[in-house]
Amino acid sequence: RPHPASHPLVEDVPLLRGSNCRAKGAAPGFKVAILGAAGGIGQPLALLMKMNPLVSVLHLYDVVNTPGVTADISHMNTGAVVRGFLGQPQLENALTGMDLVIIPAGVPRKPGMTRDDLFNINAGIVRTLCEGIAKCCPNAIANVISNPVNSTVPIAAEVFKKAGTYDPKRLLGVTTLDVVRANTFVGEVLGLDPREVNVPVIGGHAGITILPLLSQAKAGAGSATLSMAYAAAKFADACLRGLRGDGGIVECSYVASQVTELPFFASKVQLGRGGIEEILPLGPLNEFERAGLEKAKKELGKSIQKGVSFINK
Ligand code: NAI
Repeated sequence: RPHPASHPLVEDVPLLRGSNCRAKGAAPGFKVAILGAAGGIGQPLALLMKMNPLVSVLHLYDVVNTPGVTADISHMNTGAVVRGFLGQPQLENALTGMDLVIIPAGVPRKPGMTRDDLFNINAGIVRTLCEGIAKCCPNAIANVISNPVNSTVPIAAEVFKKAGTYDPKRLLGVTTLDVVRANTFVGEVLGLDPREVNVPVIGGHAGITILPLLSQAKAGAGSATLSMAYAAAKFADACLRGLRGDGGIVECSYVASQVTELPFFASKVQLGRGGIEEILPLGPLNEFERAGLEKAKKELGKSIQKGVSFINK
């Protein structure tokens, strides 16, 4: 039998089906799907996930160009078996059996657009993809990257609720880029290694809802694609280490939350085998941050309501 990795579009190969599929010779790992895998974020994210030793199977789904991207990525001599899926009829096969689904599908901002301007297109895309998750891998952890994250995460939650599969511990909006940027900028200003800087970023992922808590910075950057792919891969790796049972994994993420009066909020969350294990308190905020928090909450509340109404209208 030829090695599966040499067949990018091999969803009919039984060897790769079911929960026991592992790359030949590879350590046991997790099955990860990227939806929107041929995009500006999706491609470098696929590359980074193919390099992650915790990944045994990598499914690349998009409505365009997945055969080429899949062939390319599959030639990397790392452990994960890569399979490509093209178009809506292959969505279910792309999702079946997945442990983690990462969603960078949709249109990005162009100069002059706000993240909210993307709502009309991306809301429908996220709904369709989440309906697929509810049907094919309801226990998977979902990482939502598609903007506006402040509304697409509530949309995903409503879709899962309607399907009866909603587990708030398994739905996470990816705000890691905000953290990665804050760490980089603070590192530059203070002349520190950015890997040693840890700025929590709370609130949401748009404009004034992004609130970096510079007072808590611990010292010891149109639309982004490469740094975003890095951020998404970093966050996905944290989710996988949590699933594996590693302790002490804390990342900022936009999640269903009671940290404020809003139903969704980005803050530090502890990740574990069940997804979110604990949502950590915001910690002390200085006066500037407290004022920013009030502004962020006002704006964020509207975006959440917009997402909820999109599904329940
Ligand atoms: P892109 O346009 O380069 O790629 C998007 C991909 O999604 C394309 O390959 C497209 O074919 C695919 N796609 C469209 N409809 C689809 C569907 N129904 N099913 C599956 N795939 C579909 O855009 P880019 O730059 O990769 O950005 C993707 C999303 O990520 C945008 O919404 C962008 O705003 C968001 N983003 C989020 C960030 C965050 O921090 N959470 C940061 C930067 C971007």
